[in-house]
Amino acid sequence: MGGKCIQAALLGCGTVGGGVWKVLNNNQDIIRKRAGIDIKIKKVLEIDFEKAQKAGVPKAVLTKNPDDIINDKDIDIVIEVIGGTTLSRELILRAMQAGKSVVTANKDLLAQDGEELFGAAGKNKVDLLFEASVGGGIPIIHPLKEGLSGNQIKAIYGIVNGTTNYMLTKMSQDGSNYADVLTEAQEKGYAEADPTSDVEGYDSARKLAILSSIAFNTRVSFKDVYCEGISKITARDIMYAKELNYVVKLLAIGKETDGEIEVRVHPTFIPQSHPLASVNDVFNAIFIQGDAVGDVMFYGRGAGELPTASAVVGDVIDAARNKIMNVRGRIACTCYDNKIIRDIGDTKAKFYVRMKVLDRTGVLAAIASVFGNQEVSLDSVIQKRNIGSLAEIVWVTHDVLEKNIQDALKIIGGLSIVEEICNVIRVEGE
Ligand code: HSE
Repeated sequence: MGGKCIQAALLGCGTVGGGVWKVLNNNQDIIRKRAGIDIKIKKVLEIDFEKAQKAGVPKAVLTKNPDDIINDKDIDIVIEVIGGTTLSRELILRAMQAGKSVVTANKDLLAQDGEELFGAAGKNKVDLLFEASVGGGIPIIHPLKEGLSGNQIKAIYGIVNGTTNYMLTKMSQDGSNYADVLTEAQEKGYAEADPTSDVEGYDSARKLAILSSIAFNTRVSFKDVYCEGISKITARDIMYAKELNYVVKLLAIGKETDGEIEVRVHPTFIPQSHPLASVNDVFNAIFIQGDAVGDVMFYGRGAGELPTASAVVGDVIDAARNKIMNVRGRIACTCYDNKIIRDIGDTKAKFYVRMKVLDRTGVLAAIASVFGNQEVSLDSVIQKRNIGSLAEIVWVTHDVLEKNIQDALKIIGGLSIVEEICNVIRVEGE
């Protein structure tokens, strides 16, 4: 490749951008040998020059004007790590129109505007690579698109949010309650001051939309994903989970059944023996079932400066290789299908239901008969604790239709013998 090099530009020099700068510079020699060419960052777009300089970016490389990058014909690859969905979308589209390949870590944008962006990548015959958008440093997008592309993917089960996994791990290990672990996670810098996106499952839902779009070849957007967070999980539910040999995890679940798909994020009881049950603290893992490969699991750090930069730089090297081999746009948008996305009411799962009821004759039978009338088949029932004068009952069902159990719970919640339905949690992975 002589003295030539591939020139890239960085949009944003926050935590991930700074990490990308460091990895590209620290591993320059090995990257040159692997890519067959030098990869240099020619320009960095950043409002806060001081922040970028702290990450080691020289002032001469910095700009506040995106046109300095978009109009620079020597720049072949644009790395978007600004985040958000407005400026990032505009700059990604402009970069692709200008013939540049784009590498992004932006899950919010892809889960919202994926169709438009991949359409633009195809039209402009450039790469749009996004390994860092799901699972931080864990390679999962490339494996799904390449190594596993000979499989029909039957199911994805992902722990794709480190903050909530840390919180659930702490609740399980220490018996602490939700509010205390949230405060601890915020003090440790894992949870944001406004933790909504993590704890309500939106972050996981965005990542699931991206994974499912590839796995099931159907465009899935954030708005298509059924989503429940962890804020209603109590120490008591975790205690029962242990007694029943389960672990509670916030799972992102994508499944294909009879040509239709389901996409949902919710707290889930999984057997203690399941490979995902031992994924603890801030770690992420994605467990995939393919018709040929069987079960396969990817595990690692789902966030952080260097793990995320690892995924971004891997994509930059890929884009550079594609550019020098003149094969950009090698893997086109994978959403060639339009499978029906099932309404949550039409999905099936096994359920754990905890309730407080009057402790008197006939109560269990009355509730069981409502379940039966609504075609909710019961697997087991536990009544071994009282809360004051009330009995606490835990039911575990067989696989049932979501709308049937919701109908049953509506009726049961209205019975005078039922004080409260305390929690309802799906069970998976058996
Ligand atoms: N907030 C995410 C998490 C990291 O807690 O895993 C960024 O996707």
